[in-house]
Formats: sequence, structure tokens, C-alpha cells
Amino acid sequence: MPSIAVYPGSFDPVTLGHLDILSRAAKLFNEVHVLVVHNPGKSPRFSSQERINLIRQSLDQLESKDSGKITLETLEHGLLVDYCKKIGAAALVKGFRTSVDLDYELPMAQVNRDLAGVETVFIPADPQHGQISSSLVKQVSDLGGNVDKYVSPAVAKALASRAKGGA
Ligand code: PNS
Repeated sequence: MPSIAVYPGSFDPVTLGHLDILSRAAKLFNEVHVLVVHNPGKSPRFSSQERINLIRQSLDQLESKDSGKITLETLEHGLLVDYCKKIGAAALVKGFRTSVDLDYELPMAQVNRDLAGVETVFIPADPQHGQISSSLVKQVSDLGGNVDKYVSPAVAKALASRAKGGA
């Protein structure tokens, strides 16, 4: 039976930190479903479909044998674990940068296991990407900074064309 994992998140937009976690997850599992999750509490910069397109355009940062294992989907409503059950995924993948991320993620991991027996595999961020977050990247881009070190060329271009306020 293939091992299937789901890598959920807002990905607004995807960063090189996310792509690093994705490529490492693709080495651990036969299939990885990247799931762009709609969060009613956030007003995203990019629509779900735009976020999917940006992830697709960024996959050339990965080795081709890894990108062949990756599927891109959106979850507009409903529980993450119901999506996992529907596709037969045994695990969720989450990246973490610091203990602050773990404090935020641990209750969700415990609830997801409690609800449906879905385990969460935590992958530590590479120190090279330890400071990157989607919100910081948006802020730097909005204020006219260069984000080429943090995102793919496709995402940098999309951010420049969707800048808010700043430069
Ligand atoms: O990239 P983010 O914004 O940190 O991702 C948060 C996300 C999408 C992983 C989180 O909001 C989530 O798990 N949403 C799914 C809703 C759900 O199933 N909640 C109940 C159990 S935690």
C-alpha cells in the first residue's frame, strides 16, 4: 500500500521554506498531497487557485523525481482529517522553525490524532530557511525589498504585481 501524506497550509504564498519541507516529505512518502486550506479567519493575498498555480510554478525548485510524487489540491471547507481519510493518507506533514511553531501545532496534532488516528510528522526547518514566513515575505515585498532569496521567481513576480501599500 502506498504511503500517502498530506502537507496542509495557507501557502499565501509558498516560500522556499515550504518547498524544502515538501521535497524532504517526498523522500519519506510515496505520495504527498499539498493541500491549500481556506482559513476563514484570514484574508489571503492570493486566491486558493492562485496559490495552487504558484506552487505548481515553483515545483521546478525540486528534484524531478520528487515533484512526480506531488499532488496539489484545495480544501475550502471541512476537516483536514476527513480529507486525509478520503484519500487514504496516514499522516500529516508540518514544518516547524522554532518551539513557537511547535506550541501552535501540538494541540492540532493531538486533536487530529484523536479525531481520526491521523499522525503528524514534524520536519524541522533547514536553518537556511528558519526565518522565512509567508507574512514576512509579503511585508518585505510590500515595502520594496528583494525577496528573491526567500521565494521562487514566479512568487516574487506575483508578489510584485500584488504589492499592498508600500513602495
Ligand atoms: O499555513 P497555516 O496558516 O499555518 O496553516 C494552518 C492549517 C491550514 C494547517 C490549519 O488552519 C488547519 O489545520 N486547518 C484545518 C481545519 C481543521 O481540520 N481543524 C480541526 C483540527 S486542528
